[in-house]
Amino acid sequence: MTALEELLSRNYPIVACESPIAERQRFFSKLVNYGKAANIQVFLWNLNFGCVKKLTNGDDNKLLLEDLSCFLPVNKQNRENYFEIFNFWRAYKGTGILIIENIYPWLKESETQDTDLFLVCQWLKSAIANLELERSTGKTAILLGPSAEITGELGSIVPLWVQELPETKEIVSNLIASNIFPSLNPNEWEAVAVSSAGLYIADIISCLEAIKIDFPAVNSSELPSLMLGKKTQLLKRLYDCDFVLPSLVELGGLQLMQESFKRFKALLAPRAKEYNLRVPKGILLVGPPGTGKSHSAKACSQNMNIPLIMIDWGNFRSFGNLAEIKLKRLFALADRLNQVIVYFDDFDKSFAGDDPLAKRLAGQLLTWMQERQSDVLVMASVNRMEWLPPELTRAGRFDYLFKIDLPNEGERHHIFKIHASRFDKRFANGGDPWSDQQWRRILKETKRCVGSEIQTIVERAAASIFAETIAIEDNSNLKNFPLMLSVEAIIEERRQIKPLAIREADRVESMRNKADAQALPSSPIDDSKFAIGDLDIFNSIS
Ligand SMILES: Nc1ncnc2c1ncn2[C@@H]1O[C@H](COP(=O)(O)OP(=O)(O)O)[C@@H](O)[C@H]1O
Ligand SMILES: [Mg+2]
Repeated sequence: MTALEELLSRNYPIVACESPIAERQRFFSKLVNYGKAANIQVFLWNLNFGCVKKLTNGDDNKLLLEDLSCFLPVNKQNRENYFEIFNFWRAYKGTGILIIENIYPWLKESETQDTDLFLVCQWLKSAIANLELERSTGKTAILLGPSAEITGELGSIVPLWVQELPETKEIVSNLIASNIFPSLNPNEWEAVAVSSAGLYIADIISCLEAIKIDFPAVNSSELPSLMLGKKTQLLKRLYDCDFVLPSLVELGGLQLMQESFKRFKALLAPRAKEYNLRVPKGILLVGPPGTGKSHSAKACSQNMNIPLIMIDWGNFRSFGNLAEIKLKRLFALADRLNQVIVYFDDFDKSFAGDDPLAKRLAGQLLTWMQERQSDVLVMASVNRMEWLPPELTRAGRFDYLFKIDLPNEGERHHIFKIHASRFDKRFANGGDPWSDQQWRRILKETKRCVGSEIQTIVERAAASIFAETIAIEDNSNLKNFPLMLSVEAIIEERRQIKPLAIREADRVESMRNKADAQALPSSPIDDSKFAIGDLDIFNSIS
């Protein structure tokens, strides 16, 4: 028996249900089937119908809607007349389940200045409290909507049921029943179900239907990866976040941090649980812009071979009232995906100033980080630690703090080679066409450049070499014209940009110093041949 059926069988006069719109049909069907078995009728009301519909299912399990003639809507003279249904239901002599859709917006704690609206909200709250008084009448009203926001007092008398994201087992049984790919065996369905984790059944089925249309000849072994692709797109739309599958990311330098990522992977193994070990609760990356924090999160996802959910924290703040609900859903999603990294980009952004919503969101995050049982790894990046509320940085909250600093000589050399290899074949597989002396020139010119600036320099150098040499050749055999980066082109492009750490030296220095005080270094001492010993080059701004 499901949790909802149990609530219904206990004869509560009113139950609050939260279920996404995608699951609406399935929710109705489930109730109708429950009603059939328990010999109870199921009714549906919403503002659009105005009247009450009786829900049944036909021979082919299709939902049927029938008008219930004993409910006659009254003239809408006052706003509360729209909700006449509550008076009707209290007076209704029969038994049954009545689904009342989408009235949550009127039930939440409102700060409205509109007296009329205020009165309607109060009227509705009283109507619900009055229904609650009448127990054991054989009638249950179900409030249904995508987010069950009920004010404090009402919340304490009305039980809440939330449609959870389905587990693999539930997905498999529903997919088999849907008959969408009849030839699949249970093992194949299991693989599809695993790749669908994080979606509701209705969404999974519509993704599969779309796949069937796009690839009529799809074979069962391709289904999981096609499903993953569809899921990635859908999650992006549903949760306003980027869902990134583990992919090859080359991160130059930051060796100490990268070694930690490898250790975290070991902690995902089931065996770690037997030893009471878990993945860290949270990792904070601190450092100036462009040093590769977001890139590091992707590298961590690759190292641990688990997907990454990237969230723009400042953007979240801008959802206003919806932000808390969105965050709650996001946590439910992460818990269901289980082995996943949740990465909050620019985590300090929304905390500047005294913003109560940002504080509430942070509180929500902390509670979840403390309570969650899943193997979710929370990562966040900040430019400035001091903007974070102190409760977030207190010991034991984020268990690792890594300082992501301006790259040293050896690291810059590595980052240059990573980006150069995207354009110039000579750099492939660690190849290096340039002499140490040439590199020393480049590294000297690029002191205080960060990873993103190195990337820009290389991209622009490649573009200008292309324009000057290959683009003007009118030879169709381009194989004879490989793109070859030159030291001069790199240095020329370097001179065209003004690195942030030079442009805004004070600001960047302050970020670095603050990070120094609180975080672990991510880079070991430079032991490359390009290292320049103990000279304090960073303070000699050129
Ligand atoms: N250490 C690095 N190795 C390779 N590429 C880097 C590195 N740091 C930065 N980059 C490049 O710069 C781009 C921007 O970096 P990003 O991770 O967004 O910086 P941040 O999040 O710290 O502001 C990345 O997409 C990557 O291509
Ligand atoms: Mg970033």
